[in-house]
Amino acid sequence: MGVGEMGVAMVMSIRMTPPLPLIFLLIVHGGSSTEWNVKYSPSHICALKNSSVTMSCTYTYPAGHQIKNVFWTKTTDKRDDEEFPDLSVDPEYSQRLQYLGDNQQNCTVRLSHVTKEDERMYYFRFITDKNGKWIGKIGVRLSVTDLQLESPERVTEGDSVRLTCRSSCKLTDTPTFIWYRNSQRLTEKTIEKLILDPVRREDAGRYRCAVHGHTLTSPDINLNVTYPPRNVSVSINGSAEIVSGDSVGLMCISDSNPPALNFSWFEENQSSAVGSGQSFSAVQSGRFYCEAHNPHGAQRSDAVTVTVKGPPVLFYISIGVVCGAAVFITKGIIWGIRRMKERKAKQQNPSRHQDDKRKACDVDLNQPVYENATAFQINKCEPELDSSVYENLPKNKRKP
Ligand SMILES: *[C@@H]1O[C@H](CO)[C@@H](O)[C@H](O)[C@H]1NC(C)=O
Ligand SMILES: *[C@@H]1O[C@H](CO)[C@@H](O)[C@H](O)[C@H]1NC(C)=O
Ligand SMILES: *[C@@H]1O[C@H](CO)[C@@H](O)[C@H](O)[C@H]1NC(C)=O
Ligand SMILES: *[C@@H]1O[C@H](CO)[C@@H](O)[C@H](O)[C@H]1NC(C)=O
Ligand SMILES: *[C@@H]1O[C@H](CO)[C@@H](O)[C@H](O)[C@H]1NC(C)=O
Ligand SMILES: *[C@@H]1O[C@H](CO)[C@@H](O)[C@H](O)[C@H]1NC(C)=O
Ligand SMILES: *[C@@H]1O[C@H](CO)[C@@H](O)[C@H](O)[C@H]1NC(C)=O
Repeated sequence: MGVGEMGVAMVMSIRMTPPLPLIFLLIVHGGSSTEWNVKYSPSHICALKNSSVTMSCTYTYPAGHQIKNVFWTKTTDKRDDEEFPDLSVDPEYSQRLQYLGDNQQNCTVRLSHVTKEDERMYYFRFITDKNGKWIGKIGVRLSVTDLQLESPERVTEGDSVRLTCRSSCKLTDTPTFIWYRNSQRLTEKTIEKLILDPVRREDAGRYRCAVHGHTLTSPDINLNVTYPPRNVSVSINGSAEIVSGDSVGLMCISDSNPPALNFSWFEENQSSAVGSGQSFSAVQSGRFYCEAHNPHGAQRSDAVTVTVKGPPVLFYISIGVVCGAAVFITKGIIWGIRRMKERKAKQQNPSRHQDDKRKACDVDLNQPVYENATAFQINKCEPELDSSVYENLPKNKRKP
């Protein structure tokens, strides 16, 4: 007779006229186990460093036994004449271990501030008054993890970027993740992946993740978002209006990551570059602009106008004043000398005045005596203006 047939026979007998003793037997058998057993639920726990771990556990034993001793241990090996080591007296655990179970069927235990060294198997051991001894050999495996933030090595503006808050095992308690950028909580992000699509330059910063209810956080990672030059402009050192012979210092300024190191300078409506380098010295009038390059691209600035002017008006005025003054003084001196000479001549022989003048004009200029006086002599001989002056002077003098 097979097992199946016996089962069918039992069901049939229950269906027909169930005799009381059989029902009683079935209830006893199904409700209260007589098995020696320990059940762990779950049997694998993944916990964050420094967190508290609850290892849920139930145990059964044949009826008629009273529990005398219960404890947790971390090994299933022992010598025959020894008992397993009790974790509650192990200095590594005694302060952190708390038995939450009872002396009937609940063997739950709690371990706080777990460390990487706590990663191992744990077993529940119980002993009864009838010297029944049992160890739940399946055990609970404890894994302890920290949090690591994974990010792509290179990120350029516009990319789709995924940051992952990674633990070395799948956390047992479904975690709520918390994300931080530059220590500011990103409230809307609660899963282990943070997706930035497309990533913007403002997304750059120090990122960190954590799990709700735990003090542990991942180390910071720096998200460096590279981008081509933007906001390129020309800054003018001093004035854009200069005097010819001077120069204007122009500087190319740009916002780019990595910083632009390659610059080209152009004059408007000229195809070829007029300079390179971040600064440029303009010496002639024109409209100049620059172009900043980095490995991700280039951008040009607006043009600035440089105006080169001749020497300023004030310069001319002062030259005019100096020249005018010089002419005036020279004329004054000449006039003074002539008057002196005239007076002398009149005193000596007033009638010979005209003759003397003519004589002086006829003098051979090469004669050494006259050499130094050449300039004055020539002036004296100018016909109209000078002669009228001379003619009027004596008259004016005689009148009074
Ligand atoms: C561990 O957790 C406790 C609170 O449970 C906290 O006060 C302590 O700072 C944490 N230690 C570390 C190293 O995170
Ligand atoms: C065992 O005890 C713990 C702590 O008191 C309790 O949370 C848990 O529900 C109990 N388990 C069972 C199966 O009764
Ligand atoms: C250019 O700079 C201004 C202010 O500095 C800023 O508001 C703007 O967003 C920048 N533009 C770009 C394209 O970066
Ligand atoms: C501006 O001009 C001054 C004097 O010519 C010079 O010392 C300085 O370095 C210049 N600065 C820039 C940014 O070109
Ligand atoms: C970003 O990385 C590039 C190289 O990949 C580097 O040149 C640049 O300085 C970095 N920028 C920042 C802000 O760290
Ligand atoms: C600078 O930019 C110019 C123009 O695109 C390019 O020809 C040159 O090779 C660049 N130089 C460097 C050093 O990158
Ligand atoms: C450059 O050319 C444009 C269009 O041909 C013209 O409007 C502008 O005045 C020119 N600029 C200069 C500085 O010659």
